Amino acid sequence: MTQIPYGRQWIDAEDEAAVLAALHAPMLTQGPATAAFEREIADYVGARHGVAVSSATAGLHLSMMALELGSGEAITSPITFVATSNAMVHVGLTPVFADIDPATLTLSPSAVAEAITPETRLLAPVHFAGLPADMAGLRALADDHDLKIVEDAAHAIGSDYADGGRVGNGAHAELTVFSFHPVKTMTTGEGGAITTNDPELYERLLRLRSHGITRDPARLSDQPGPWWYEQQTMGLNYRMTDIQAALGSSQLRKLDRFIDRRLAIVAEYRRAFAGLDWLTLPPDAGDRRIGWHLFTARLDFEALGQTRAQVMATLAAQGVGSQVHYIPVTRQPWYRTHRATDPATFPQAEAYYAQALSLPLYAAMTDDDVAQVIATVRGLA
Ligand SMILES: Cc1ncc(COP(=O)(O)O)c(C=O)c1O
Repeated sequence: MTQIPYGRQWIDAEDEAAVLAALHAPMLTQGPATAAFEREIADYVGARHGVAVSSATAGLHLSMMALELGSGEAITSPITFVATSNAMVHVGLTPVFADIDPATLTLSPSAVAEAITPETRLLAPVHFAGLPADMAGLRALADDHDLKIVEDAAHAIGSDYADGGRVGNGAHAELTVFSFHPVKTMTTGEGGAITTNDPELYERLLRLRSHGITRDPARLSDQPGPWWYEQQTMGLNYRMTDIQAALGSSQLRKLDRFIDRRLAIVAEYRRAFAGLDWLTLPPDAGDRRIGWHLFTARLDFEALGQTRAQVMATLAAQGVGSQVHYIPVTRQPWYRTHRATDPATFPQAEAYYAQALSLPLYAAMTDDDVAQVIATVRGLA
């Protein structure tokens, strides 16, 4: 029996060769492979600039730093990984959660409209499972209230917005952040990237990523010699290595194939699970191209007569991994202590969480793996 995790990377000989070449290059970090990867990511999504970072968590933090918003509130969805709202806390913003739209499982513009106060500075929608949030609705709210938008596109490399543009093209947000963690659609081991069309934000991101240091002669206050650099702002080391970037470039060349395979698996699951009255399929995006990161099924555990833990154990015993994306951030002890997190405020997020179970989805799944998942899930009832 094959053990099928809920997600995993695809690595081939081309990736191995790219990493090996990077290992023998003169620069293991801050070299040409990183610059090339940044250009390729920006071109792929249709943005002017790309900045590679050590993780999407780092990218979210850096993006929110670069916006220099001061104190105030920032709104996101409870159905996300904690990194989204943690980044807000790290820059001194107060996270405020607004409910999801059950049709997309992403931040609901009408819930955001209710959550906006004179203190609101930022919206951070999450393109959950790969499906973009309603960016037209959110951008309209942001423009009305003079807010910035950082898109958490950790799940959504290669997805299209409703208007047909590609996520990260800068049409709806100041900054967009992608993740290349191994369960994501393409990987650099750990890693992420930020895209933007704003040249000033781009320059700021580059400096903040490297301790707030600049070597740009045009910016230096003194130029005593070639050793000189200046730390002019407070920054961090959030750089990606050239080894990771070389892997990223190699993966990016295969990304469209990875997405095609994911789309085919999602279509297969949809067909196989369509008739099950105890299983709700994930949101559908019609013909729009979505780089599905997760297959977020909803199971009626009461109808099945089993708890979620029992279902996960039954699946695991038959080699099928599953996971819950996500425990609402509003249920995390840190947030319950520090923020307003009454579950009654997020009925849609809570209703989703009660039934959520992500089933295996990754490009390296074989047809046999897919058949095993389908048979095992159908056998639950
Ligand atoms: C929605 C979301 N945001 C941010 C992150 C953080 O990504 P990384 O692991 O690259 O820091 C993740 C990773 O799981 C995520 O799913």
